Amino acid sequence: MSYALPIRVLHSLIALATLVQLAIGELMTVPGIAEADEDEAGWILSAFAHEGHGDIVQPETLGFEVHEFLGLFIAALVLVRVLMAFSDMPGAGWRELFPWLTGEGRRGLAQEARSQMPLWKQGRLAPPEEGERLARTVHGFIILCMFGMAVTGAILFNGWNEHGHQTAFIAAVGELHEGIVGVLEVLLALHVLAVILHLRQGHNLLARIKPH
Ligand code: HEM
Repeated sequence: MSYALPIRVLHSLIALATLVQLAIGELMTVPGIAEADEDEAGWILSAFAHEGHGDIVQPETLGFEVHEFLGLFIAALVLVRVLMAFSDMPGAGWRELFPWLTGEGRRGLAQEARSQMPLWKQGRLAPPEEGERLARTVHGFIILCMFGMAVTGAILFNGWNEHGHQTAFIAAVGELHEGIVGVLEVLLALHVLAVILHLRQGHNLLARIKPH
């Protein structure tokens, strides 16, 4: 299987933008209230107060501004990828990304896990030609997490409280946004680790996803 060109191009853009976004997310100074309050309330309180309304004056930080706008850019890319999942482009379809949603897919997944287990126990991965349902399942969860980040991020972007105090709903969305990023980081670590293992075994995966 080879990915359609639009998938390859999107992968490069999404991968690069997301890795930068994750680094910014870790390093940025969140414009906010006193550090003690920020620690207690989480980043989102300060994020929502960063426009400086009400009784809390918030300085803008470049890192946070970039995080917001890069986030919107990634959200748009992810939306395009999600729409592609309903097309018939090679490698794009939702049935491939979420095989566990159909009976046939679940049987295929179980069979693939059984046949590849002996290799995994040796720290090896089977070449993609011998079954890629599990890998595609991980890709599906990555896209699902990215979609979750996009939706929660868009709500947060629009949800500032003019008085600098976020509602319980917005605070909950902020918690969710942070929770999903934790899951996404684990999945991406697995994704990159799997790619490295494949490459060490001589499986030329990158040729399938490179845009040229
Ligand atoms: C160093 C970074 C990365 C490398 C080397 C890499 C490499 C790859 C490779 C080789 C594939 C094709 C796997 C196959 O043959 O089936 C792939 C697919 C995929 N990767 Fe990555 N990747 C990286 C980062 C990322 C990031 C940051 C994301 C998401 C934020 C991501 C999401 C995906 C998805 C969703 C697919 C499946 C293609 C699709 O359905 O859109 N990758 N990646």
